Amino acid sequence: MFGSVEAMLSASADKPLWRAVLEDDCQDRDADPAASLARMGRLWQAMKESLEEYDPARRSASGLSGGQGARMADLADPICGSFVQEVASVALKLGEHNACMGRIVAAPTAGACGVLPAVLIPLQRREGLSDETMVECLYVSAGFGQVIAQRASISGAEGGCQAEVGSASAMAAAGVLADLLQGRENPYAALFDPARTVLRPQLLANGLEAVLNLLRPTAPRCPHMGCALRWNGAERSWDCPCHGSRFGEDGALIDNPATDDKQ
Ligand code: FES
Repeated sequence: MFGSVEAMLSASADKPLWRAVLEDDCQDRDADPAASLARMGRLWQAMKESLEEYDPARRSASGLSGGQGARMADLADPICGSFVQEVASVALKLGEHNACMGRIVAAPTAGACGVLPAVLIPLQRREGLSDETMVECLYVSAGFGQVIAQRASISGAEGGCQAEVGSASAMAAAGVLADLLQGRENPYAALFDPARTVLRPQLLANGLEAVLNLLRPTAPRCPHMGCALRWNGAERSWDCPCHGSRFGEDGALIDNPATDDKQ
């Protein structure tokens, strides 16, 4: 098992990164590469099936999770563009599917089950990539996951959400951008470039709405930064249009970033 990214990269000097991870893993476990590839292929299919099985009407036992992924997918003119909208909606859908006790692939953990599929499934659709290519991405992701697990933590109980979701995000990025790590050009680099523009008309509209909600004189105020709350009759909650905090009918906090109940 690779103990560092450096070791992984040096083992892949004369081969693709995914192949170096596959060979190293098979050597460790005395496993057959063809069987390993077939197993990874089944995991990839299971990820896609989890998304197909998502039911927007389903709710978790607590009633708090469910339906948001479908709402995200239906948003008109999303602020970050349609690709990021799809990424966000798949992440939400699989997180909700997990909360509703659906079948998921824990990669690296159940809590982070939405991250890898959220990046890889929309990318496959958009670019028309083969399942074989996606399986290769998963090997690179798995290699990075192993390094993180050895050198830091993938446990939410130990390192918080960032240990799970942060690790999964790093794994997804490595899987997609493996060529870049090996000093080669990558066709998706621009798509995931943090410097890509997010300036869209909706950003201005949202900013304006936030200002109006801050200035509105009468409605109950959000304890986070003071925006006017709106009554959500369908969910029977007070919702903040500025940053998404939510409160129950009795004012009890349901969702952050606010940390206090509504007064
Ligand atoms: S002002 Fe309400 S969530 Fe920020």
